[in-house]
Amino acid sequence: MKSAIFLSIIIALCISSGCPNAQSISSKKILIVYLSRTNNTKAIAEIIHNKVGGTLVALELEKPYPENYQATVQQVVNENETGYLPPLKTRIDSIQNYEVVFVGFPTWDMKMPPPMKSFLHQYNLSGKTVIPFNTNAGYGVGSGFQTVKELCQNSKVLEGFSITGGMERDGVYFVIKGEKAKEAETEVKKWLQKIKVTE
Ligand SMILES: Cc1cc2nc3c(=O)[nH]c(=O)nc-3n(C[C@H](O)[C@H](O)[C@H](O)COP(=O)(O)O)c2cc1C
Repeated sequence: MKSAIFLSIIIALCISSGCPNAQSISSKKILIVYLSRTNNTKAIAEIIHNKVGGTLVALELEKPYPENYQATVQQVVNENETGYLPPLKTRIDSIQNYEVVFVGFPTWDMKMPPPMKSFLHQYNLSGKTVIPFNTNAGYGVGSGFQTVKELCQNSKVLEGFSITGGMERDGVYFVIKGEKAKEAETEVKKWLQKIKVTE
């Protein structure tokens, strides 16, 4: 199963980029980085991890956001206005060793959350394949995937995956469980096949 996955990644990379070092891709070369406050994006990251392997990393901040939702929204709006990049507590060793980087984040303020912007500014993903994924409250990814392309101009950015998660504003927190988790798994599987990461 795993070898079929790696083979598919190799083939996808060959088709898309003329086969640079494709033979060396293995799960050791896959990084899955995600931001998650109420665990919905985490659940999608875990589904992806289950299917492709690799290293799974949650982004944490030096100074976490407030627990209060409205206070968090206000802080995020201010950070977006000023372009503030919150410092990350998370450190990723040897980013140069990874060739495929999944980046997962919730929609915040119809944008990519500032901590994911911090990650994409801090780590050089040039020459790598970048694969975004997202959860949101039903309003979509907003400008998030576009921002991935803007911040990863020297990467090959594949088509992203987006799914409805929680709605913290209305007291709906973690929803990707039970039937919804099964549906999400089916959707993720289809997406990974479509972008030729798995067979
Ligand atoms: C600060 C903040 C802002 C948000 N803004 C939006 C938004 O603009 N549009 C949207 O659809 N959902 C928005 N949401 C909801 C989240 O995208 C949604 O609940 C997502 O599934 C949360 O993912 P998580 O459980 O991984 O944290 C916001 C949530 C927070 C905490």
